[in-house]
Amino acid sequence: MYTVCLVPGDGIGLEVIPAAKRVLEATGLGFKFQTANAGWHSFETYGTSVPEGTLELIKESDAALAGAFSSPSRKVEGYVSAIGTMRRKLGLFANLRPAKSRPVAGCQQGIDMLMVRENTEGLYAGQERRYGDVALAEAVITKAACTRIGQVALEHATKRRQKLAVVHKANILPLTTGLFLETVMALAERHPGVDAYDVIVDAAAMRLVRYPESFDVLVTTNLFGDILSDLMAGLVGGLGLAPSANLGAEHALFEPVHGSAPDIAGKGIANPTATVLSAAMMLEYLGETAAATRVETAVNTVLQASSLTPDLGGNASTETFTDALLKVLEG
Ligand code: NAI
Ligand code: MG
Repeated sequence: MYTVCLVPGDGIGLEVIPAAKRVLEATGLGFKFQTANAGWHSFETYGTSVPEGTLELIKESDAALAGAFSSPSRKVEGYVSAIGTMRRKLGLFANLRPAKSRPVAGCQQGIDMLMVRENTEGLYAGQERRYGDVALAEAVITKAACTRIGQVALEHATKRRQKLAVVHKANILPLTTGLFLETVMALAERHPGVDAYDVIVDAAAMRLVRYPESFDVLVTTNLFGDILSDLMAGLVGGLGLAPSANLGAEHALFEPVHGSAPDIAGKGIANPTATVLSAAMMLEYLGETAAATRVETAVNTVLQASSLTPDLGGNASTETFTDALLKVLEG
């Protein structure tokens, strides 16, 4: 029996989390689900985007599965990003974002790569100020955070195809991203089996588009990882298919890469695949490798055989797509 904290959040989070919950139940493993609040709706209702009770529920659970959290694109007094807060307060320093070819049109074939993104600092450290018509943001890079993310990346590269692209901009930011590059490269020397090479972030963007099949594991700082992982998702069918894991020493939270999609929220047409694949990553984390593989195989079967959600050119609803998944899983 596993205790899983569900944090649906805002927008399509409220549609894709119930779909993933049905899939988890269909694995036949025992789950106890608890539901917690976070996000913009939570801020408007309770005055905080992440209530203390939510952090407590996640800490008590074996793992958490989150939907999406809306953030306004303007400064709102007292509001802080929900997902950023959870990552920092739960010590979820590693953001794993796999991009893998799926059997659908619009997905390039032959791609199987993993972005390992530093999740707690860099330009997202919350050090932003404005003085009249001048605004400043500070990037925070610490050797400790570079070391722990470098170790995670090297562990994954060792288990995968032994290739690690260390993505940086040390030519322009030699002190901040230079510290990241130097720290990860020094760690890599202790893993002679892994071919670790450095790539400047802009060149990495071009090479990801032109030669995505040449990449295995990539590791980078927070902002670069955020942007490049969406690019990687775009290569393999878009945000509706992109899962992720936020891992720390003690806690774990899984979530689709996408946001709350206000343009389609409430219409019942969100693609639940990214969240279902995030749930599969959670099963793997819980040690339920066979169940994780069954869920991923079922996703591929349904993507190939059934009608797709509108983001992939079909006219299935979230519910009919999930029904098809359950049929394969229970069949
Ligand atoms: P978004 O990911 O919500 O949407 C981008 C586009 O992709 C939209 O056209 C949307 O309809 C489509 N899309 C995304 N997920 C989909 C799915 N599962 N099925 C079908 N179509 C899907 O990003 P956007 O529009 O930049 O941000 C909207 C809100 O989400 C903002 O408030 C933003 O702050 C928040 N956000 C939250 C994230 C999180 O909770 N981790 C991540 C990214 C954005
Ligand atoms: Mg993002």
